[in-house]
Amino acid sequence: MREPEVREHERFRNIFTVTVNGLQRLATRNLSPGISFYGEELIMHVGSEYRIWNPYRSKLAAAIVNGVTMVPVRPGSKILYLGAASGTTVSHVSDIVGGSGEVYAVEFSHRSIRELIERVCRHRMNVQPILADARTPSKYKMIVGRVDAIYCDVAQPEQAKLLALNSIFLKKGGEVMIAVKSRSIDVTLSPSTVFEREVETMRMSGFQVFDVVHLEPYEIDHVMITARLEG
Ligand SMILES: C[S@@+](CC[C@H](N)C(=O)[O-])C[C@H]1O[C@@H](n2cnc3c(N)ncnc32)[C@H](O)[C@@H]1O
Repeated sequence: MREPEVREHERFRNIFTVTVNGLQRLATRNLSPGISFYGEELIMHVGSEYRIWNPYRSKLAAAIVNGVTMVPVRPGSKILYLGAASGTTVSHVSDIVGGSGEVYAVEFSHRSIRELIERVCRHRMNVQPILADARTPSKYKMIVGRVDAIYCDVAQPEQAKLLALNSIFLKKGGEVMIAVKSRSIDVTLSPSTVFEREVETMRMSGFQVFDVVHLEPYEIDHVMITARLEG
C-alpha cells in the first residue's frame, strides 16, 4: 500500500480527503485517536489519525461529495443536531468542531440515545446527548444555548416546520442544513414537489436558501438543503 496523501478539503476547514492507491475518500481527523465508532477505517498520517467518512453511511458526507457549497459545521462551532440516531454523523461533526466546539445531539429513541452515549459520548467531551422530541424544543432550552448552526436529519414529515421551531436557538445569521427524504413527507407527491414545498416553508420561516443538493447515488429521493436565517 502506498503512503496516504491527506489534504484539507478545498472549501471546508477540518474536513479532509485521503487518497490511497489513487482512491480518494472523505475523512475527518479523529478527536479520540485509536477509536473507530462504527467500523470506519482509521488512517495514520504524519502523527494524526483520520477516520474515513463514507457517503453511503452519512448524508452530510454525501452532500459534500455531491458538491454542497456551504457546510455550517466549522472548527469551534456550536451545533444543534436534530436526529442524532446512534451517532454515525454526529461523530464526524464532533471531529470537525473539535475541542472548542459543542454538539447538542437530540434524539427521541431510547435505544439510539443509549448507543450514542456508549459509542460516542463516552469518548468525547464535546457531544451532549439530549433525549427529547425535536418537536418540543422548550423541553431542552435549559441545556441548549445559542448555536451557530442546526443540522436536521429526523426523516419525519414537515421537517422544515420542525427546523423552524428550533430556530429559536439559532444566532442571528446562523446557518442550517436539513436532509429531506421525500417519502417521509408525502408518498403521493413527486419528490421534486415535496422538495419545493420544504424550500418554500423554509423561505416563509425567514431562511435564505443556498443549496438544494440531491444525494443520489448515496441516498435515493433525498436532498440536502442549506440556508441562513436572515437577520
Ligand atoms: C435518518 S435517522 C438519523 C441518522 C443520523 N443523522 C446520522 O446521519 O447518523 C433519523 C433519526 O431521527 C430520530 N427522530 C425522528 N423524529 C424525531 C423527533 N421528533 N425528535 C428526535 N429525534 C427524532 C429517529 O429516531 C432517528 O434516529
